[in-house]
Amino acid sequence: MSGPLLKVENLTKHYPLGSGIFKKTIPVIRAVEDVSFSVEAGETLCIVGESGCGKSTVARLLMRLVEPTGGRVLIDGTDIAGLKKDALHAWRRRMQMVFQDPYSSLNPRLTAGQIITEPVENFERLGRRQRQALAADLLRNVGMSPEMMHRLPSELSGGQRQRVGIARALALRPSLIIADEAVSALDVSVQAQILNLLLDLQQQMGISFVFISHDLGVVEYIGRRVAVMYLGRIVELAQCEALFAKPVHPYTEALIAAAPVPDPTRARLATPVEGEVPSPINPPTGCAFHPRCPLAVERCRIDVPPLVPMADGRVVACHVRAPAGDARHLAPVTGDHPLYPVAMSDTLSIRASRVHR
Ligand SMILES: Nc1ncnc2c1ncn2[C@@H]1O[C@H](COP(=O)(O)OP(=O)(O)OP(=O)(O)O)[C@@H](O)[C@H]1O
Ligand code: SF4
Ligand SMILES: [Mg+2]
Repeated sequence: MSGPLLKVENLTKHYPLGSGIFKKTIPVIRAVEDVSFSVEAGETLCIVGESGCGKSTVARLLMRLVEPTGGRVLIDGTDIAGLKKDALHAWRRRMQMVFQDPYSSLNPRLTAGQIITEPVENFERLGRRQRQALAADLLRNVGMSPEMMHRLPSELSGGQRQRVGIARALALRPSLIIADEAVSALDVSVQAQILNLLLDLQQQMGISFVFISHDLGVVEYIGRRVAVMYLGRIVELAQCEALFAKPVHPYTEALIAAAPVPDPTRARLATPVEGEVPSPINPPTGCAFHPRCPLAVERCRIDVPPLVPMADGRVVACHVRAPAGDARHLAPVTGDHPLYPVAMSDTLSIRASRVHR
């Protein structure tokens, strides 16, 4: 099969607010707006952005846990919305999810062995021996001893619980794993172990990942490409290295500037200033970032900027940094780019508390 494993086209999700019985129009929460991206087999795409920008809603839409208001999700070219019962069942084998909080996502009354073999038992009956052999294999896959299969979640550490969550996701040998803040609840050393485990499993099994995180350090470590979301929309999508070396969208720049820099030789791009994410119920007109953006011009208040391709293959939605129909954005993304000739503005930033390494 040629083409990407996962293709997302113009995905949109609005949550209605209340029943609106006495109202002409029901207000909606614009959780996801016109999001498009693709993921190749064996690739990791990270989605990053501040709290409430729509990351988990994208994950739920990909898993078809919620229905989209608009747009499509295609797996190997097939629109999952059109799948009937059997085809949907087969498709569910191919996509699995790892959640942020392994404690609340694991049934406290089941043992680790029962938890990780459950997805397979939803598809086929296993004898006791088969079940035990499978549980032992899956635990070994995630670096745990097979004896752990008899433990309850409450008898495991946070890192072990997250490994059990990953083992469960691996049980059906999926092509794609959606990991929503999968390491956020863990301390830094356990985070590193789990990230390395995911990278190893990807190499061994060729699994694709959609890896959702608000932590730029984690994204830089694990991602090949990164989509930056702001208030429901992707504002920049680039190769990981290029994005961190030279963020183009003012919001991406602000996010990176707000993250603590572990390497003192690496200069900060900007100093933090205040600014809250606007409400997705009544988002700003035009570019939703304009109330916080020091580069904003009149047009930013009126028109939503389209995603425009740059010379290095990234796409950026910004009237100033990537003006549609202006060939200057096709100059290589370097320090003397005609649209942002020097290091970025020193007035940009968001508060560091929301995004950290
Ligand atoms: N079931 C729902 N009903 C109504 N609104 C929702 C629902 N789920 C999410 N939202 C809203 O949609 C927006 C996006 O939420 P989402 O959970 O996708 O954000 P997020 O980027 O994952 O945030 P976080 O980093 O805090 O997990 C938020 O404003 C949220 O309040
Ligand atoms: S479109 Fe305008 S407001 Fe939005 S990021 Fe670009 S310059 Fe800032
Ligand atoms: Mg979330």
